Amino acid sequence: MKKETNYPSNRFSIAPMLDWTDRHCRHFHRVMSKETLLYTEMVTTGAILYGKGDYLQKGDAEHPVCLQLGGFATADLAQSAIAGKERGYDEINLNVGCPSDRVQNGRFGACLMAEGDLVGDAVKAMQDATDLPISVKTRIGIDDLDSYEFLCDFIDKVHNKGCDTFIVHARKAWLSGLSPKQNRDVPPLDYDRVYQLKKDFPHLTIAINGGIKTLDECETHLEHLDGVMLGREIYSNPYLLSTVDQRLFNSQEKVLTRFEVLEEMYPYIEQQLKDGSYLNHIGRHMLGLFQGLPGARAWRRHLSENGHIPGAGIETMQKAASFVTED
Ligand SMILES: Cc1cc2nc3c(=O)[nH]c(=O)nc-3n(C[C@H](O)[C@H](O)[C@H](O)COP(=O)(O)O)c2cc1C
Repeated sequence: MKKETNYPSNRFSIAPMLDWTDRHCRHFHRVMSKETLLYTEMVTTGAILYGKGDYLQKGDAEHPVCLQLGGFATADLAQSAIAGKERGYDEINLNVGCPSDRVQNGRFGACLMAEGDLVGDAVKAMQDATDLPISVKTRIGIDDLDSYEFLCDFIDKVHNKGCDTFIVHARKAWLSGLSPKQNRDVPPLDYDRVYQLKKDFPHLTIAINGGIKTLDECETHLEHLDGVMLGREIYSNPYLLSTVDQRLFNSQEKVLTRFEVLEEMYPYIEQQLKDGSYLNHIGRHMLGLFQGLPGARAWRRHLSENGHIPGAGIETMQKAASFVTED
């Protein structure tokens, strides 16, 4: 069951996003918010247990950070959770929301919604293997299994095996016919269904995800639920994060300006360049930092056109930022 101490708050989190929420992105986001729970990209158990690369890389500054796993075999998930614990992750999350063909062929992601008992067993295996909190990210339904009763039955089965934290993407997924991208936009959002879930399972921690764009919206959702998770909006407009701690966590810390955020990134970037990264590995996540300000386009263009050039460093970023006028 959930640990009461040192438990990362799910009150505000940034969604796991493949190819986007890598360790550089997470470091950047952490500069703007100390309280937000960060997520890795989904990492498959196959990659962790049999892959040749290191798929669990993370920096020391990222905490609290949750490792999202993709998989279904209980023993593999348990082993992967142990690996996550050893590498210092604060929480493990199981992906029961991704509808891609590749993921379905591997029998994991959203199709697992039809196998609540298996998901429950997987959660239990991970809980037995490690003392980290285990959560599940899911949808409100898949294909024709989209009734409220089906959702409750799934939650009930998984909860009965010990999971008490769910992040619910408030739209169903179509397992065939729609691309993963379309599955993030086409099925309609149904926030009320997630609110109802919290009413029917008041003892569970339930966070809502999908289409949330402002902190005002977050505050409204938090009147009904325990947490909110934002994905695409934070990625494209990351400075939204700068007031999350003050507005949602009562922090008294000073809000950094966009240029202060940039300055705070420099020591990290310098170290990463020394360790072999290219500037655009980090800079690509920062393209939206100045969104809405005069010169934001020139910042983006200069960084995108020059960040991949070998030797590009802080000066390239400073040059790009020189096009921007602070509001
Ligand atoms: C580029 C991209 C990659 C994603 N990768 C994952 C993933 O690895 N695991 C996952 O559970 N969801 C993934 N998602 C879905 C998001 O976590 C989130 O549920 C979805 O984008 C809806 O939230 P939003 O409207 O705030 O973006 C991804 C979304 C995007 C845009």
